[in-house]
Amino acid sequence: MRNRVEVMHGVNLDQLGRRDPAHYGGVTLEELERQISGAARELELEVRFFQTNHEGDFVEHLHRLAGLVDGIVLNPGAWTHYSYAIRDALELTGLPAVEVHLSNVDTREPWRRQSVITDLCVARVTGKGPDGYRDALERLRAELSR
Ligand code: DQA
Repeated sequence: MRNRVEVMHGVNLDQLGRRDPAHYGGVTLEELERQISGAARELELEVRFFQTNHEGDFVEHLHRLAGLVDGIVLNPGAWTHYSYAIRDALELTGLPAVEVHLSNVDTREPWRRQSVITDLCVARVTGKGPDGYRDALERLRAELSR
Protein backbone atom coordinates (compact mmCIF):
# COMPACT_ATOMS: atom_id res chain seq x y z
CA MET A 1 0.00 0.00 0.00
CA ARG A 2 1.09 3.57 -0.63
CA ASN A 3 1.46 4.87 2.90
CA ARG A 4 4.29 7.44 3.06
CA VAL A 5 3.03 10.85 4.14
CA GLU A 6 4.87 14.16 4.52
CA VAL A 7 3.32 16.47 7.13
CA MET A 8 4.38 20.06 6.42
CA HIS A 9 3.97 22.97 8.81
CA GLY A 10 4.51 26.49 7.53
CA VAL A 11 5.28 29.85 8.94
CA ASN A 12 4.84 30.49 12.70
CA LEU A 13 3.67 26.97 13.45
CA ASP A 14 6.89 26.37 15.38
CA GLN A 15 5.44 28.94 17.81
CA LEU A 16 2.41 26.83 18.78
CA GLY A 17 2.06 26.92 22.54
CA ARG A 18 2.75 30.68 22.47
CA ARG A 19 0.07 31.64 19.92
CA ASP A 20 -3.46 32.75 20.81
CA PRO A 21 -4.97 29.76 22.67
CA ALA A 22 -8.46 30.87 21.62
CA HIS A 23 -7.55 29.86 18.07
CA TYR A 24 -4.76 27.35 18.48
CA GLY A 25 -5.18 25.79 21.93
CA GLY A 26 -2.15 25.24 24.12
CA VAL A 27 -0.44 22.43 22.27
CA THR A 28 3.20 22.85 21.17
CA LEU A 29 4.42 21.70 17.77
CA GLU A 30 6.29 18.86 19.43
CA GLU A 31 3.10 17.66 21.17
CA LEU A 32 1.12 18.08 17.98
CA GLU A 33 3.63 15.95 16.07
CA ARG A 34 3.47 13.31 18.79
CA GLN A 35 -0.33 13.15 18.39
CA ILE A 36 -0.03 12.99 14.62
CA SER A 37 2.52 10.16 14.89
CA GLY A 38 0.12 8.23 17.15
CA ALA A 39 -2.76 8.65 14.70
CA ALA A 40 -0.50 7.68 11.79
CA ARG A 41 0.58 4.50 13.57
CA GLU A 42 -3.05 3.49 14.09
CA LEU A 43 -3.79 4.18 10.44
CA GLU A 44 -0.66 2.29 9.33
CA LEU A 45 0.79 5.36 7.69
CA GLU A 46 4.46 6.36 7.78
CA VAL A 47 4.84 10.06 8.57
CA ARG A 48 7.72 12.47 8.23
CA PHE A 49 7.60 16.07 9.42
CA PHE A 50 8.90 19.37 8.10
CA GLN A 51 8.54 22.93 9.43
CA THR A 52 10.08 26.17 8.25
CA ASN A 53 9.48 29.89 8.52
CA HIS A 54 11.11 30.48 5.12
CA GLU A 55 8.87 30.36 2.08
CA GLY A 56 11.67 29.36 -0.31
CA ASP A 57 12.62 26.43 1.92
CA PHE A 58 8.98 25.29 1.96
CA VAL A 59 8.93 25.51 -1.86
CA GLU A 60 12.23 23.62 -2.23
CA HIS A 61 11.07 20.94 0.18
CA LEU A 62 8.01 20.42 -2.01
CA HIS A 63 10.32 20.16 -5.05
CA ARG A 64 12.15 17.25 -3.42
CA LEU A 65 9.10 15.19 -2.42
CA ALA A 66 8.23 13.43 -5.68
CA GLY A 67 9.23 9.78 -5.38
CA LEU A 68 9.96 10.06 -1.65
CA VAL A 69 6.39 10.12 -0.32
CA ASP A 70 2.94 9.16 -1.54
CA GLY A 71 0.96 12.10 -0.18
CA ILE A 72 1.14 15.36 1.72
CA VAL A 73 -0.71 16.88 4.68
CA LEU A 74 0.05 20.57 4.82
CA ASN A 75 -0.72 23.57 6.95
CA PRO A 76 1.14 26.44 5.33
CA GLY A 77 -0.03 28.93 8.01
CA ALA A 78 -0.46 32.46 6.65
CA TRP A 79 1.14 31.46 3.31
CA THR A 80 -2.10 29.58 2.63
CA HIS A 81 -3.82 32.85 1.94
CA TYR A 82 -1.47 34.37 -0.64
CA SER A 83 1.54 32.26 -1.67
CA TYR A 84 1.20 31.42 -5.34
CA ALA A 85 4.80 30.18 -5.14
CA ILE A 86 3.74 27.45 -2.70
CA ARG A 87 0.67 26.74 -4.79
CA ASP A 88 2.79 26.22 -7.93
CA ALA A 89 5.26 24.01 -6.06
CA LEU A 90 2.45 21.92 -4.59
CA GLU A 91 0.97 21.43 -8.04
CA LEU A 92 4.39 20.43 -9.35
CA THR A 93 4.64 17.54 -6.85
CA GLY A 94 1.71 15.82 -8.54
CA LEU A 95 0.96 14.23 -5.14
CA PRO A 96 -2.41 14.03 -3.40
CA ALA A 97 -2.55 16.59 -0.60
CA VAL A 98 -4.85 17.53 2.25
CA GLU A 99 -4.99 21.10 3.59
CA VAL A 100 -5.31 21.49 7.37
CA HIS A 101 -5.87 24.45 9.66
CA LEU A 102 -6.07 24.19 13.43
CA SER A 103 -8.39 27.19 13.68
CA ASN A 104 -11.60 27.83 11.81
CA VAL A 105 -10.22 30.11 9.12
CA ASP A 106 -13.68 30.67 7.66
CA THR A 107 -15.00 32.45 10.76
CA ARG A 108 -12.01 34.69 11.47
CA GLU A 109 -10.79 37.77 9.55
CA PRO A 110 -12.05 37.88 5.93
CA TRP A 111 -8.52 37.56 4.48
CA ARG A 112 -8.19 34.13 6.10
CA ARG A 113 -11.13 32.81 4.09
CA GLN A 114 -9.06 32.85 0.94
CA SER A 115 -6.85 29.82 0.30
CA VAL A 116 -4.72 29.57 -2.83
CA ILE A 117 -4.25 25.79 -2.44
CA THR A 118 -7.72 24.39 -1.70
CA ASP A 119 -8.55 23.47 -5.30
CA LEU A 120 -5.31 21.44 -5.56
CA CYS A 121 -6.14 19.41 -2.46
CA VAL A 122 -8.28 16.27 -2.15
CA ALA A 123 -9.69 17.57 1.15
CA ARG A 124 -9.61 20.51 3.53
CA VAL A 125 -9.94 20.28 7.33
CA THR A 126 -10.35 23.42 9.44
CA GLY A 127 -11.24 24.34 12.98
CA LYS A 128 -10.79 20.94 14.58
CA GLY A 129 -7.53 21.68 16.38
CA PRO A 130 -4.99 18.84 16.59
CA ASP A 131 -7.72 16.23 15.87
CA GLY A 132 -8.01 17.74 12.39
CA TYR A 133 -4.71 16.12 11.50
CA ARG A 134 -6.16 12.67 12.18
CA ASP A 135 -9.07 13.52 9.87
CA ALA A 136 -6.57 14.71 7.27
CA LEU A 137 -4.59 11.47 7.52
CA GLU A 138 -7.80 9.46 7.17
CA ARG A 139 -8.81 11.41 4.05
CA LEU A 140 -5.38 10.94 2.55
CA ARG A 141 -5.35 7.24 3.40
CA ALA A 142 -8.69 6.80 1.63
CA GLU A 143 -7.26 8.59 -1.40
CA LEU A 144 -4.08 6.49 -1.39
CA SER A 145 -5.96 3.21 -1.22
CA ARG A 146 -8.16 4.00 -4.22
C1 DQA B 1 -3.56 28.53 10.42
C2 DQA B 1 -4.51 29.67 10.06
C3 DQA B 1 -3.77 30.78 9.35
O1 DQA B 1 -4.67 31.82 8.99
C4 DQA B 1 -2.71 31.35 10.24
O2 DQA B 1 -1.99 32.35 9.58
C5 DQA B 1 -1.80 30.30 10.80
C6 DQA B 1 -2.36 29.02 11.20
C7 DQA B 1 -4.27 27.47 11.29
O3 DQA B 1 -3.70 26.40 11.46
O4 DQA B 1 -5.36 27.72 11.80
O5 DQA B 1 -0.61 30.53 11.00
O6 DQA B 1 -3.13 27.91 9.24
